[in-house]
Amino acid sequence: MPLLEQHVSLRPYNTFGLDVRARYFARFGSADELRALLALPEVQAADKLILGGGSNVLFTQDFAGAVLKNEIRGLEIIAEDGGDDTALVRAGAGEGWHGLVEYALGQGLSGLENLSLIPGTVGAAPLQNIGAYGAELRDTFERLEAVEIATGALRSFGAAECGFGYRESVFKNALKNRFVVTAVVLRLHRRARPNVQYGALQDTLAELGITGEPTPHDVSRAVVHIRRSKLPDPAETGNAGSFFKNPEVSQRKFDELKAQHPGLPGYPVPGGVKVPAGWLIEQAGWKGLRRGPGAGTHGVHERQALVLVHHGGATGQDLRQLAEEIIQSVRQQFGIELHPEVNIL
Ligand code: FAD
Ligand code: EPU
Repeated sequence: MPLLEQHVSLRPYNTFGLDVRARYFARFGSADELRALLALPEVQAADKLILGGGSNVLFTQDFAGAVLKNEIRGLEIIAEDGGDDTALVRAGAGEGWHGLVEYALGQGLSGLENLSLIPGTVGAAPLQNIGAYGAELRDTFERLEAVEIATGALRSFGAAECGFGYRESVFKNALKNRFVVTAVVLRLHRRARPNVQYGALQDTLAELGITGEPTPHDVSRAVVHIRRSKLPDPAETGNAGSFFKNPEVSQRKFDELKAQHPGLPGYPVPGGVKVPAGWLIEQAGWKGLRRGPGAGTHGVHERQALVLVHHGGATGQDLRQLAEEIIQSVRQQFGIELHPEVNIL
């Protein structure tokens, strides 16, 4: 039976490094351990937060309920399909995401290399359909297994039931806080199909001296290279990656803005144009901002304006306040509404 601790600091368990406390805290290593925890009266009565790596949460206060940390392990190939040269990989939801990417590469399977080095756990990946460098989780997703919090029942969800969108899924919307993902099954390719549509990826492959058709390992190396050059390492500087989603605007709105701001970048998406929030935030003058005593306790990353950073000594409320001011200034300057990607608690 897993241990239920009380008044536990969550500082090691969130990549912003914020020192808040959980009223109750426990780890689970299997679906059965999770069910046992969910059956405890203290846990039943409390609000519950399922935590993976804590790389997409902003704690603005102590968590008055029960934090249940997913540590379900296991990586295995469960089927090979000679017909279309694919293999199904099943990963325990508490495995580290990048560990799964490396496992797949080691097994000669491609499909995850563009998603190299994304922090966090496998189980959180479907929550926002993680994406980077021209790929998303849904491209290889087969199904997930999840325990229903109210009943303890195990359920399987196929891709169509997950409602995947850009940084979206049914688990952030209609089924929010209803299920705990316990395993994810992905369909990966035996025959490499490099996906290097993303501009920065091609430039980096060339920079690394990789010519001709890149292998999945090459793509992974290039992605890791770009990420290390742009994004702060949470081990050194507290952050949760992109704080906001990239907003989508209508073609008409985009054309109007482009006439006023000729440098505005935009990428066509069904129904409109996606605009990089990092560009908007940088233009609004926030990039590299440091706030708070001394050299600053928090602010906006100097190489990526979409990333809010905690240098130490700030609270989650300080960061939320900064996020609100950024939203307001982008609204005033561009008439565009930014929405947080990070889960604010
Ligand atoms: P947590 O932060 O622990 O949880 C996130 C949310 O999911 C919470 O609401 C939590 O309750 C819920 N949750 C977690 N596990 C489960 C579960 N098993 N069942 C049900 N609910 C659960 N994201 C991208 O998409 N692309 C990127 O390129 C990217 N780059 C990043 C770079 C950095 C430096 C950082 C710090 C973050 C980045 N992120 C990126 C965001 C983050 O890594 C992902 O969202 C990741 O999937 C979060 O995983 P986690 O285990 O840390 O989730
Ligand atoms: N830009 C600026 N200034 C900045 C940052 C960005 O002008 O300070 C502009 C540039 O025009 C740049 C463009 O924004 O070309 C895009 O920047 P980048 O390639 O860094 O990507 P992003 O749009 O800022 C998104 C994801 C990242 C993902 C990368 C790579 C979102 C919210 N963010 O960032 O995901 O890693 O693309 O695919 O979609 C995350 O979700 O946490 C995350 C890090």
